[in-house]
Amino acid sequence: MNSYMQRLGWTAWRKKTTILVATGFLSLIIFGLQFSRLENSDSTTTAQSEKLIRMKTGDHIKFIESNKKSSIADLLGQAANGEEDGKMKAKRDGERESNDIERQLGIPDVNLDPNNPYIPNRRLVHLDLKGAPPIIPYLRKLFPLIRRMGATGVLLEYEDMFPFSGPLKNVSAGNAYTADNIREILNLAEASQLEIVPLIQTFGHMEFALKHREFAHLREVPNSPQALCPSRKTSLDFVRTMIDQVMALHPSVKYLHIGCDEVFQMGECDTCRLEIRDNLFLKHIRNVVDIVRSKYPSVKIIVWDDMLRHISQQAMLDVKLGELVEPMVWVYAEDIYRFVQPTIWEKYSAVFETAWAASAFKGAFGETLYIPNARRHLENTLRWLDTMAAQSVAFKRGLSGIAITGWQRYDHFAVLCELLPASIPSLALTLLATTHGYFNLSLKDKLLKVLDCPEPTLDAAPFIALTTDPFLWEKLSRCSFPGNRVFRLTNRLHNVELEAREFLDLIERQKGWMTGYNVRHNYSLGLRVDELTVDLPRLYHGMVNVARAAVEAMGDCFDNHTIGEWIEQRIYPYIVDFERIENESAVLRSVDSWPARPLPAPVKMQKLAFGVGLH
Ligand SMILES: *[C@@H]1O[C@H](CO)[C@@H](O)[C@H](O)[C@H]1NC(C)=O
Ligand SMILES: *[C@@H]1O[C@H](CO)[C@@H](O)[C@H](O)[C@H]1NC(C)=O
Ligand SMILES: *[C@@H]1O[C@H](CO)[C@@H](O)[C@H](O)[C@H]1NC(C)=O
Ligand SMILES: *[C@@H]1O[C@H](CO)[C@@H](O)[C@H](O)[C@H]1NC(C)=O
Ligand SMILES: *[C@@H]1O[C@H](CO)[C@@H](O)[C@H](O)[C@H]1NC(C)=O
Repeated sequence: MNSYMQRLGWTAWRKKTTILVATGFLSLIIFGLQFSRLENSDSTTTAQSEKLIRMKTGDHIKFIESNKKSSIADLLGQAANGEEDGKMKAKRDGERESNDIERQLGIPDVNLDPNNPYIPNRRLVHLDLKGAPPIIPYLRKLFPLIRRMGATGVLLEYEDMFPFSGPLKNVSAGNAYTADNIREILNLAEASQLEIVPLIQTFGHMEFALKHREFAHLREVPNSPQALCPSRKTSLDFVRTMIDQVMALHPSVKYLHIGCDEVFQMGECDTCRLEIRDNLFLKHIRNVVDIVRSKYPSVKIIVWDDMLRHISQQAMLDVKLGELVEPMVWVYAEDIYRFVQPTIWEKYSAVFETAWAASAFKGAFGETLYIPNARRHLENTLRWLDTMAAQSVAFKRGLSGIAITGWQRYDHFAVLCELLPASIPSLALTLLATTHGYFNLSLKDKLLKVLDCPEPTLDAAPFIALTTDPFLWEKLSRCSFPGNRVFRLTNRLHNVELEAREFLDLIERQKGWMTGYNVRHNYSLGLRVDELTVDLPRLYHGMVNVARAAVEAMGDCFDNHTIGEWIEQRIYPYIVDFERIENESAVLRSVDSWPARPLPAPVKMQKLAFGVGLH
């Protein structure tokens, strides 16, 4: 465990330097190519103001400082203003008008080539099912919707929602889909001309299986369910059974995604320790590919790329990795090259004939969010289009496509993050952008139509205003897309939550009569308590009503278990707090005589002492 923590520390430290160098380098390139971007750097500052940029899922959050980049950009910006030549200035004047409109709409400024938009061939929408599956009637509406937005397929990440059977029966969640459900999902997808790409984890993120006692013997580290031990025959048997069961229900798929991201625990068991980590990883990929190919020779296999970023080109070439898998390069923060540097792209294009990209429309900017920031996801998508345009030429067969991911939780054990129906507007923006190769005013009618929005009353008013309305609550709440009630519910929750937090902060921190001290010592003034809790019944009932509304709204999209879990995580904590405060206020009010000061310190605190004599 210690050495593991050390290694993590080292990785972070190493990254920091690489990143600093890479961002400096990158800024130079950008500076060289286009001055105008630096002037209009509104979107980059949004990213930079983030102290920590999270990268996707997992209990180990990878983050980097971004402060350093802004100072480099500032310096370059000053230089750019001084050296600008006349030609560039003329070009900029022409762009100014459309830039003004885009600024009004809040569309992130990414300099895509207007004459040659890059449109990925395959455009998959990722459905992360992890213990919260949308019900079939919702998928029946969703599939045609995403088809209209230009999706060509669905990346279906089952996790514990697949109806595993036989020896794997216990891996499935109690509310997993049935085999009939899956056949119906496939039919629905086919009816909407959507290709299904199933995703099953086969190395890291195996928590859903390895958490069970009966599969604990397959763990790399005995007390952690994160990763599978690749060196045991039983592990490969397990993977084979899993793949067979999934493939049996997906007889005609062209692609299978075998996961393999974030294998945090590798090379730790007695056998694995003897092997070089990179070799362990590559060998396991080869084994899993062999398992798939032995029965399904024509299926192409996709893996997440993050574990490959630090493996040498030679090691990958030695095992002919390019003939085994296609990497899916994922970055969900705005700045793609900050996480996958040009040198890594060079390596990938030398090893693989093709690759995939993965952006995100939700589930990337905070584990407990309930509504995605559409502006940030749009920027991520637009930057991906820019990156794909630049990188596709280096690959022999170009890039195969993009998956727009929608994480539902950060890993098996995490709480729910943004739900799918609340994220349809963000999906619409990112998917329409991907389908057209840009996002600007010309997509207004398409967006409003596909989301079933009422005709705008004022044609001149901006149809979105991402800077002031990044969640799109203001602009798109009157639309009737499938799941719109859940979308609107998050707005309502946001409002009552703001009020609730303000109230709790007031009661417990700002005001002096109902703090922890007052409650512990039963020491307050009824008059003050009455005054402080005057809003409590209204807030309490408001919150209960939101919970009721959630049951109503979510019933169109989720089963009762998922609805229950979401309410317990998002709403119930406030109800408990309110009830506790109600109880405390009743007790404080019931006191009618009070002891002389000083009041005795709590026993626990006396033990801690802090160097002050309290008796
Ligand atoms: C939107 O972008 C496309 C592609 O760059 C361009 O052809 C079109 O003129 C733009 N439309 C508007 C309204 O800016
Ligand atoms: C599944 O779990 C149950 C209860 O823990 C156990 O009795 C049963 O043997 C398990 N099933 C299989 C197939 O291992
Ligand atoms: C879910 O809860 C609602 C309201 O209590 C109930 O009417 C419905 O039957 C439940 N659905 C299922 C599938 O249990
Ligand atoms: C508040 O008091 C009621 C009645 O005594 C009790 O049932 C309830 O559990 C208490 N709630 C909290 C959050 O302490
Ligand atoms: C606070 O005072 C009330 C009324 O005297 C009493 O019933 C209650 O037990 C006291 N609570 C505590 C925690 O001392």
